[in-house]
Amino acid sequence: MRIETIDLVHEYQPGQRALDGVSLAIEGNEPLAIVGQNGAGKTTLVKHFNGILRPASGRVVVNGIDIGERTTAQWSASVGYVFQNPDNQLFLESVRNELEFGPRQLGMSDREISERMGWVAELMGLEKKLDVNPADLSSVEKKFCAMGTVVMMNPGAVILDEPTCGQDMEGERRLSHAIKVLRDQGVLCITISHDTKFVTRNFPRTMVLCQGKVIDQGPTEEVFTHVDVLKQSYVIPPPVARVSRAAGMRRVAFDVDGLVSSINEQRRG
Ligand SMILES: Nc1ncnc2c1ncn2[C@@H]1O[C@H](COP(=O)(O)OP(=O)(O)OP(=O)(O)O)[C@@H](O)[C@H]1O
Ligand SMILES: [Mg+2]
Repeated sequence: MRIETIDLVHEYQPGQRALDGVSLAIEGNEPLAIVGQNGAGKTTLVKHFNGILRPASGRVVVNGIDIGERTTAQWSASVGYVFQNPDNQLFLESVRNELEFGPRQLGMSDREISERMGWVAELMGLEKKLDVNPADLSSVEKKFCAMGTVVMMNPGAVILDEPTCGQDMEGERRLSHAIKVLRDQGVLCITISHDTKFVTRNFPRTMVLCQGKVIDQGPTEEVFTHVDVLKQSYVIPPPVARVSRAAGMRRVAFDVDGLVSSINEQRRG
């Protein structure tokens, strides 16, 4: 999967740029996190990756094809977007119907639908909820159901908009596992998140947005040491990173295990 934008501009109101000339290329299947302050343009950016939003100027090119050449419905099958609020995505009377809906539109065979349903329901923790009305699911289950409807379509990329918001520990563990499984299947997972701990744990690469522009990108371990750049977009590295920096560690740690091994390394060295 390759998603490229060239000088992408988006305006909701004339003259007010929500995206101000974004040029980027995302390639391969290493999970990517997008971070940045409220209103930075994160959601606006990713909604261009499958044509939910269209550029005011500039281009979006997915696997070599200009986004303008296909409908949003066509793109949604290859680049799936999971809304921050699952209520915007779930509208049928059972989890099973939700999971079947997209693949049926794509003409997937009954056999493939039933095979995918088995593992997607298990991955999302919904095996016992297939006959439940999505309205009766917990808020965490709704999030997984919305993600499941996207994964069912066998997309090349899955975009998650604030997936940890309202998630409990068990939900977060399941989500981390699902992101790894998707990566292992070659699916590119792009995730918008304010939760820097979740980002450093699950995403090898990170992109920082600020006022409609990409101000930093690269390996997460590096990006999260660029404290002054992060500050511009009000992104605060995880507490452990701040402790290890304040203690003058040579290698910044992002979790307690990392901090312990950094301390040991420094002692030995
Ligand atoms: N539907 C809309 N109509 C008008 N302006 C909008 C609309 N959606 C977003 N905006 C504006 O565009 C800019 C970028 O918004 P966007 O939702 O992309 O930011 P974000 O980084 O996703 O923020 P958050 O972290 O709060 O979700 C903001 O100034 C926002 O107010
Ligand atoms: Mg947003």
